[in-house]
Amino acid sequence: MAFLEIENIYKNFGKTEVLKGINFSLEKGEVLAIIGSSGSGKTTLLRCMNFLEQPDEGKIKVNGETLFESGMQFSDREAREKRLHFGLVFQSFNLFPQYTVLKNVSLAPELLAVENSEKKLSRAEKAEIFREIDENSRRLLDMVGLSEKIESYPCELSGGQQQRVAIARALAMKPDILCFDEPTSALDPELTGEVLRVIRELKSSDRTMIVVTHEMNFAKGVADKVIFMADGVIEEIGIPDEVFGNPKSEKTRAFLEKSLENP
Ligand SMILES: Nc1ncnc2c1ncn2[C@@H]1O[C@H](COP(=O)(O)OP(=O)(O)OP(=O)(O)O)[C@@H](O)[C@H]1O
Ligand SMILES: [Mg+2]
Repeated sequence: MAFLEIENIYKNFGKTEVLKGINFSLEKGEVLAIIGSSGSGKTTLLRCMNFLEQPDEGKIKVNGETLFESGMQFSDREAREKRLHFGLVFQSFNLFPQYTVLKNVSLAPELLAVENSEKKLSRAEKAEIFREIDENSRRLLDMVGLSEKIESYPCELSGGQQQRVAIARALAMKPDILCFDEPTSALDPELTGEVLRVIRELKSSDRTMIVVTHEMNFAKGVADKVIFMADGVIEEIGIPDEVFGNPKSEKTRAFLEKSLENP
């Protein structure tokens, strides 16, 4: 049994068929890169996995637990719980402008700890939980190279630094699978390297990641598996050497040729 199983996901927006039967699986610790032209459904697929959209059909299983299947009904609270299995880093950072870097990372785990506690926490219990969250947030910010900036506000950071905060913030929720939607495409070229380096360093045997990206060299170097999406289907899936070096599909070949011309 794979760690993540995606079976036959369909999603329409009105008459537009966006996902037309998506199937793939990932083992724990694998990194999947998703490439494909604009409008092929990459973001919609990530949004379905993160319960920001509900698929019309299909099944999503993580670590043996069925999080979604056709016809399943769930409350907003249940959707929020399911969403916790996935972390999502957006193209546009989406930090809270009114909070410091440290607070951006610690806020969601603090809210969750209070919401999840069965009983009313005593002041001492709350202080202990918040101390652990604070420690973990500082550790994560250190890991993404931002120890110096914990008291800064998002507007005082470069785009690359803001994106690294967003990565620390996603990690703070301890997701099973960390997803990135074109994490460098809003950045000036000189800032993409620092963000890609952080993502590369996150790769480890127990961290499963999905990265939608236009950075072909990054995908080649970091991914264990590559999916090429076209018109709402997986046109090709394989190891990077196969997909980039010897694509089976004519559409993949044409896409790769075009992206070499216009990187
Ligand atoms: N909320 C929505 N309502 C209606 N149509 C939508 C919605 N979200 C996405 N779509 C449509 O679904 C299709 C796929 O969009 P999606 O954003 O998933 O593509 P993408 O592969 O991420 O593209 P890009 O590379 O430009 O980010 C597009 O035709 C888009 O217009
Ligand atoms: Mg997109």
